[in-house]
Amino acid sequence: MVMIWNKHHSDLRSLRRTAVLVAVSWTLLCLLSGLVYVGMEKGRTMDLAHKEATTIFNKDKAFRLWATGHGGVYAPVSEETQPNPALSHIPERDIVTEQGTRLTLLNPAYMMRQIMDQYEKLYDVKGHITSLNLTNECNAPDEWERRALVKFEKGMPEAFEVEEREGRSWLRLMRPMIATESCLKCHADQGYKVGDVRGAVGVSLSLEPYKKLEAKAMRVIYISHLLFWLLGLLVIALFFDRGKRRIAERLLFEESLAESFEKIKLFAYSVSHDLKSPVVSIHGLTKLLEKRYGDLIDEKGRRYCREITRSAEQITKLVEQINVYISTTEHPIDVEELDLKDILAQVRQEHSQALSKRAVSWHEPDQLPLVTADRLALLRVFRNFVDNALKYGGEDLANIKIGYEEDASFHILSVHDDGAALSADACQKVFELFSREAHSQHVSGSGLGLAIVKEIAELHGGKVWSSSAADEGVTFYIAIAKKL
Ligand code: HEC
Repeated sequence: MVMIWNKHHSDLRSLRRTAVLVAVSWTLLCLLSGLVYVGMEKGRTMDLAHKEATTIFNKDKAFRLWATGHGGVYAPVSEETQPNPALSHIPERDIVTEQGTRLTLLNPAYMMRQIMDQYEKLYDVKGHITSLNLTNECNAPDEWERRALVKFEKGMPEAFEVEEREGRSWLRLMRPMIATESCLKCHADQGYKVGDVRGAVGVSLSLEPYKKLEAKAMRVIYISHLLFWLLGLLVIALFFDRGKRRIAERLLFEESLAESFEKIKLFAYSVSHDLKSPVVSIHGLTKLLEKRYGDLIDEKGRRYCREITRSAEQITKLVEQINVYISTTEHPIDVEELDLKDILAQVRQEHSQALSKRAVSWHEPDQLPLVTADRLALLRVFRNFVDNALKYGGEDLANIKIGYEEDASFHILSVHDDGAALSADACQKVFELFSREAHSQHVSGSGLGLAIVKEIAELHGGKVWSSSAADEGVTFYIAIAKKL
């Protein structure tokens, strides 16, 4: 009963451990999935913002190229559009139309600055043209731009970053401007040649609208993951609950089973006990009858007497076996280090008469290891296996062969005989209590021997099995744990 309770507790513990493990794995999986989704969403935001910045940048570039293509453009002089002092070396900087309107030359950078000022007011995009070698101080680069410009000169094609400014996030994109033939009209005097990095233009784009979209998507990700996670936990909890109920049901079942087994054992014990003395009397009296009155009865009568004696002996043997079975299931084993050779020698000795009478040869390995086991139990195992071979081997039995194998955790001992084969079905059933081969009903045997072997194997942390094939006889195996 205690064993059943212990098993129940360890089952519950392992169920709980599994549930916790599954729940933790599920949580980690959800977290991981959440992280992946969040990462993907953030990446998408940046991709979108980068795409818009590139579009704006390309549009600026188109304007600038257009203006450069014209060698600058003329615009009417106004308060915002004053003649550019940096262009004073160009003779046609200021012209007057026939109607008297004053026009001044706008260089591409100047024009772009005006355009950029316009759209900074219209949308949240700031543009900036800059260089390490300034024509106009108001185009001076900031720290990030200065670093990027240095890198452009080393060949980097684009600079890109997210910046926190004025309490908002900005995406900054900057690309180098390479001097072409048409730029040199105004920039040659600074020493530039075609192909030099003349400077760079950048746009900085407010990320706020993207952040809003992102926050919305994030909410969906968080909520869906949370719901999914809770759903998973619910399923795990339900499984745990069902498992717990099953374990409780099994406990009840096993308890009642153990109880009935206990009752059966008690019954068997008292029957065998009560049976013993009458059988002994029958045996004794029949012997006496034969001895004293053998002359008064005829041969038939004497044969009856012998039959009765034999039957009484069989009953005695059965009673003994029942007692052995009960005590095997009840008493703990007493293990010691054993020499298998000794055990086999004893069993062989016990069967020597039968072996020689039936001309059966005995084979065993030359080398056998020491094993840790219960001496009497192991003797019983081999006795039973050999008995079995002799009893059921039939006419063909000529060899009994002991085998030994091992793996990492078990000693595997076997007894092979080349007698009559067993059916596959019988191979499975022989170790059950009171099982006897149908065809062997005429052979004396209690059907308890192999059941006892099975008990012994289990007490030694192992198991028993058998194999058989036509023309090959039968092999019985017992595995016993190396560490007991
Ligand atoms: C019509 C004359 C003119 C042409 C053509 C011209 N620029 Fe400029 N550029 C200027 C002047 C003047 C400035 C400085 C004043 C300003 O910012 O308005 C300037 C400023 C710049 C700046 C800003 C940094 C600084 O030095 O202040 C860069 C970068 C620049 N130009 C690149 C180019 C490139 C590249 C080309 C050819 C694709 C080009 N420019 C064509 C006249 C010109």
